[in-house]
Amino acid sequence: MSIIKENFEKMNITKIKNAKNIRKLTVITAYDALFANLFKNIADIILVGDSLNMSFAGKNDTLSATLDQMIYHTKAVCNGAKEAFVVVDMPFGTYINKDEALKNASKVYAKTNAAAVKIEGGEDRADIVEHLTKNSIAVMGHIGLMPQYVRSEGGYKVRGKDKHDAQQLIKDALAIEKAGAFSIVIEGVMSDVAKEISEAVNIPTIGIGAGKDTDGQVLVWSDMLGLFEDFKPKFVRDYLDGANLVKDAVKQYRSDVQNGSFPSKEEEY
Ligand code: KIV
Ligand code: NA
Repeated sequence: MSIIKENFEKMNITKIKNAKNIRKLTVITAYDALFANLFKNIADIILVGDSLNMSFAGKNDTLSATLDQMIYHTKAVCNGAKEAFVVVDMPFGTYINKDEALKNASKVYAKTNAAAVKIEGGEDRADIVEHLTKNSIAVMGHIGLMPQYVRSEGGYKVRGKDKHDAQQLIKDALAIEKAGAFSIVIEGVMSDVAKEISEAVNIPTIGIGAGKDTDGQVLVWSDMLGLFEDFKPKFVRDYLDGANLVKDAVKQYRSDVQNGSFPSKEEEY
């Protein structure tokens, strides 16, 4: 048994909140049972991100992901990682007002074993976060660069580049904390600002493209395993040369098929 597995403790909301200033949280996305099973007992949190709409469904942005798709993928992830702390992205358009948000988040809770939902937005969505948390739905916030705002903002922009924006991001984080969120993702934010935000709130911040001073990190699994070749942001570290390993393996398979060396006698009935 590996050291990581021995040290792993099953997470819950309290343990996640208590990790702040004690140890860094490791978050990874997963979209299916196969990979969730590999990540369980290693990552503290598995996020079923609506990023699946891009890397998995081949779309240009996350906006067309549907609630039913998120539920399908969450069921698969929970099946593959039964003990994991699973957070699900509420997709675009499913939390346009408090009632819709509660109806849709309740559907996620009813149909899956997810521990929490994630919602993009700062001060503008604090009322929604509050409505969910008051109705016993655990919420992870998501501020900074918010992919669901890509069309309304006219692109993906790194946030916190000037004092005014930095102040707004701190207000966003404080509003989401006050609304009852247990944690906040900070995406695409200048690292000094992400540090300031992390010091301003008492709940753990999970950074992506936000430097080293957040309380944890999140990466999209297919990015960090080097599988998604279309898009390689600066903040991703390739922990595996996934695309080339997969392609080389499939080329080897093709070659073995073509030259008749696969299957061998041992691989026959
Ligand atoms: O959809 C996603 O994968 C996310 C993470 C990048 C935080 O929201
Ligand atoms: Na997302």
